[in-house]
Amino acid sequence: MTVLPSSFRFSGETACGSERHLLFLLVIHHLTHGNLFPRGGGMKNRILVLLGVVLLGGLPGTVRSASIVGSKHDLSWAAKQGEHGLGGLEDYNEICVYCHTPHGANSQNNTPLWNKTFSTAATSYTVYSSSTLDAGTPSPPGQISLLCLNCHDGATGVSAVRNPPNSGWSDTVGLVGHSTMTPGQSFGECGLCHTPAGFYGGSVHDASRSYLLTDLSDDHPIGIGFPDSSKDDAFNLPPGQAGWSDIPLFAGKIECSTCHDVHDPQYQPFLNIDNSGSQLCLRCHKK
Ligand code: HEC
Ligand code: HEC
Ligand code: HEC
Ligand code: HEC
Ligand code: HEC
Repeated sequence: MTVLPSSFRFSGETACGSERHLLFLLVIHHLTHGNLFPRGGGMKNRILVLLGVVLLGGLPGTVRSASIVGSKHDLSWAAKQGEHGLGGLEDYNEICVYCHTPHGANSQNNTPLWNKTFSTAATSYTVYSSSTLDAGTPSPPGQISLLCLNCHDGATGVSAVRNPPNSGWSDTVGLVGHSTMTPGQSFGECGLCHTPAGFYGGSVHDASRSYLLTDLSDDHPIGIGFPDSSKDDAFNLPPGQAGWSDIPLFAGKIECSTCHDVHDPQYQPFLNIDNSGSQLCLRCHKK
């Protein structure tokens, strides 16, 4: 287990990451000045202190950094950053509620207690096409991808939910409504600020790549299986219809959750495995 490098990977991404960053600076300070703890002794003691701090500080951090808490999918945390009064991103002071609800969920198509209403039919998305595809034309996005697209296609307000927490919740974003993940610069669009041409003249982070919209023809194909090896043998075939344990397939097909873990920011951006050296791509493609 590589505790220190992982604390760098997450620093800034989660509240915990910056705590660990601070911890690391303290450790460096101790090693170079030797006066962090009153009874700091020789090099051996310093190494013991270093190990102790890394273990005590590093282990809980490792667990939290793999959590949705404080990630870009913690929308209550996100709503507290910047100017979301005008941003049309409701702060419910809860995390799961933006996607799930214990009661009154959307029971359409067997979704996981889904707290949102779908406004785009599966067949309304433009799918990927190319003359070199060997597995046939992709089918419309599968159910699991429709959950992601519920926000990422820009058709529904990010904080628009069926069942807000606590009955009697009063809507505080009513002025501009629940903004959508669209790159336009009008009120009601996240792009009002999160685009280079936006309200803050590009000083706010550019999120336009995360606004997939309904045209998926510029995205890695989803709703597609592996081609028959007689048509294309440049693939490592999965062990079965469910894919690998860390890179799942859905009825044999690639969907958003094949590559992404919506709850886990450990491998950014919300990837199932580390893609350094293109490991994710090479799991399937023999290139
Ligand atoms: C009125 C301007 C404005 C609008 C509209 C707006 N935001 Fe923001 N947002 C900000 C500012 C300012 C920050 C803090 C600076 C930054 O992240 O670059 C921020 C930060 C964030 C963050 C935290 C990013 C980070 O890593 O620190 C997320 C996530 C986010 N906004 C999502 C959204 C979403 C989703 C919408 C639409 C529902 C939206 N914002 C609409 C101004 C806005
Ligand atoms: C941004 C949306 C989003 C948020 C926020 C969110 N989830 Fe999920 N959740 C999903 C999606 C999408 C799925 C189904 C896809 C998947 O599992 O890959 C899912 C599936 C689940 C499942 C069933 C499958 C599994 O992974 O076990 C559970 C349980 C769950 N979520 C719990 C939670 C809890 C608890 C929270 C809050 C701490 C939470 N989720 C926050 C989107 C979200
Ligand atoms: C409730 C709305 C919502 C749902 C549902 C949702 N997302 Fe997101 N997602 C967001 C917001 C908001 C952001 C932050 C955009 C920004 O940077 O301003 C985001 C960011 C991301 C990012 C980029 C993270 C980064 O570090 O820049 C990825 C990848 C992502 N989502 C994948 C998914 C996948 C895959 C699913 C489904 C399994 C999903 N999302 C479901 C709202 C959602
Ligand atoms: C074959 C794997 C794969 C599939 C399938 C996939 N993604 Fe991604 N996605 C990635 C990788 C890898 C990145 C990081 C790209 C980068 O950093 O340049 C990424 C990045 C993103 C981002 C951040 C914006 C960006 O371009 O960097 C969002 C949002 C996102 N994906 C959402 C989705 C959604 C929603 C789906 C389903 C419609 C999906 N992804 C399907 C692999 C995949
Ligand atoms: C889970 C397996 C899987 C993963 C992971 C994966 N791919 Fe794919 N990819 C496929 C399949 C299957 C196809 C469809 C191939 C076909 O029909 O010829 C495809 C299609 C493509 C295509 C389009 C090929 C064409 O002929 O138009 C490209 C390019 C591509 N992938 C690149 C990538 C890259 C880059 C990554 C990593 C970011 C990646 N893939 C991750 C399985 C995967």
